[in-house]
Amino acid sequence: MSDKTYPPSAEFAAKAHVDAARYDEMYAASVNDPDGFWSEHGKRIDWIKPFSKVKDVNFDFGNVAIKWFEDGTLNVAANCTDRHLATRGDQTAIIWEPDEPGDEAQHITYRQLHENVCKMANVFKNLGVGKGDRVVIYLPMIPEAAYAMLACARIGAIHSIVFAGFSPDALGARINGCDAKLVITADTAPRGGRKTKLKDNVNQALLHDVDDVKCLVVKRTGDQIAWRSEGDYWLHEEIEKVDADCPPEEMSAEDPLFILYTSGSTGQPKGVVHTSGGYLVWASMTHQYTFDYHDGDIFWCTADVGWVTGHSYIVYGPLANGATTIMFEGVPTYPDAGRFWAVCEKHKVNQFYTAPTAIRALMGQGNDFVEKYDLSDLKVLGTVGEPINPEAWNWYNEVVGNGKRPIVDTWWQTETGGHLITPLPGATPAKPGSATVPFFGVEPVVLETESGKEIDSTEAEGVLCLKDSWPGQMRTVWGDHDRFEATYFQQYKGYYFSGDGCRRDADGYYWITGRVDDVINVSGHRMGTAEVESALVAHAKVAEAAVVGYPHDIKGQGIYAYVTLMTGEEPSDDLRKELETWVRSEIGPIAKPDLIQWAPGLPKTRSGKIMRRILRKIAENDFGSLGDTSTLADPGVVDELIENRMNR
Ligand code: WT7
Repeated sequence: MSDKTYPPSAEFAAKAHVDAARYDEMYAASVNDPDGFWSEHGKRIDWIKPFSKVKDVNFDFGNVAIKWFEDGTLNVAANCTDRHLATRGDQTAIIWEPDEPGDEAQHITYRQLHENVCKMANVFKNLGVGKGDRVVIYLPMIPEAAYAMLACARIGAIHSIVFAGFSPDALGARINGCDAKLVITADTAPRGGRKTKLKDNVNQALLHDVDDVKCLVVKRTGDQIAWRSEGDYWLHEEIEKVDADCPPEEMSAEDPLFILYTSGSTGQPKGVVHTSGGYLVWASMTHQYTFDYHDGDIFWCTADVGWVTGHSYIVYGPLANGATTIMFEGVPTYPDAGRFWAVCEKHKVNQFYTAPTAIRALMGQGNDFVEKYDLSDLKVLGTVGEPINPEAWNWYNEVVGNGKRPIVDTWWQTETGGHLITPLPGATPAKPGSATVPFFGVEPVVLETESGKEIDSTEAEGVLCLKDSWPGQMRTVWGDHDRFEATYFQQYKGYYFSGDGCRRDADGYYWITGRVDDVINVSGHRMGTAEVESALVAHAKVAEAAVVGYPHDIKGQGIYAYVTLMTGEEPSDDLRKELETWVRSEIGPIAKPDLIQWAPGLPKTRSGKIMRRILRKIAENDFGSLGDTSTLADPGVVDELIENRMNR
């Protein structure tokens, strides 16, 4: 093998669900006979009516349709709760760790989870929510977020979670985008010792709403909040009115389970739709195999349920598997940079799953924060969200894992529902920085970027596509199937196009090189540059804006904005701050530009197209090789931008 590899220890492999030989065998079976493989593994969840058809997939542009287990029926919430009552009713399902380390953690058993979900489902019903209706969840990381997701699943409603860091505008767009009947939120949300006024944000989001969207409020802090004139309800009051019995709705495998908005290269975020049967099979199977999860393990994914990682690996995957899953309300650096490790010690965490950006931030704070805690219960370490740089990988391995825990670098996307390319900890020798090899049933291909031709040789570099479907694949864009096809199936015909570039090495390992579209990856969160641009130009003093990514030590990529002001407006530090605040309020804190450069002019072709390639180079402080600038309308613009570049 090329590069330095870290094979699993013989001891680990011996106890693992899958070792190297078993991986080869299962992988071969999964791609040689998908129907046989999935008719077997589809049974890992409980079906009300078993499926007889496994797979019905068409990737042809114009006719894209994806169905798995289509004639089966099930209830996802019953799979995450009822199913476990007889065998593990008194086992902890969720450990909730609050923002303040001094506040008491909660341990919620499967029986309590079941009761809480049923009651919340009955509250939803009382508020008029039924099968197929949409519910927006805008909650902090509290157990009620999981109850709300499962309550929707129980009655067949479709949830759309909006990350609590999103602004009222972004929230409003998502509420309208799916015509939600109900929004569930909290009064205020503590995080890292600060509070977000969630209910106030909902009020603002609903201000211009013509429909009467109801709002259910969880009392998290008891802080003073404003109530709308009608349509607002306290959860603790409504829950008194319902009983604890709520039969699960029988859903078809292809009924939508949730919508989750994610940024694309153009325009508004799109509502990724995941359905019930295939998604649950995928979330639970990847959770078990990728993390080598065994009964009794304590699993911690540090993501927020507002992102897909939280959907699949805090809630659906772990709970379908009867795991104990941790929900953490806080941030890695509060009250200090030892918080993650304090929580690992306190709750005896076995599998720990986080993002490279968090690892880099903590790495910079020194090893003392890690070394003072007992991390001996850790068995597997995971990462997700962006390529992990080898320095961060090595620190994770040596300092956190003591050189003894396998690291799984999991490549996937909101669209894929769960892991697609990832090591299995008992089977795959790791290489720092590589997501390694495909999960069962996943057939990655590398295509030549321009021609779209599949590269047959093992060593390859180009765009990463998938040749065939897997059960957890998204099915459509909410309300816009054409956009689904155009985004993922138009450019490279016959394949699902991931939007990522990649390299395959001589060992067949995949190395993700980042997005090839106008999407940037900021702290493991996807941001469309077009979205930040439209927020900027919505400001009265801004004439034009162009946004690109640039390398950032902690965030992976930072947001670099070139801003042209309206005639008569003067650049100033105050205005720079004003624009930062503006973008925060238009989208949310994660979209705040890291660097703003005043640009009297932008490099454009004679037809008026902004040449982003040049802007990217300048932002990367790598303007020695700008390539061909002869097609520019005014080449002088470039010298001016280089002269005043912000990243030196
Ligand atoms: C994009 C998807 C999947 C949950 C978190 C982000 C990048 C994700 C990796 C990884 C290299 C990665 C890709 C992908 N990405 N994981 N292990 N190595 N890149 O979900 O917001 O849908 O973003 O994140 O560029 O396309 P998302």
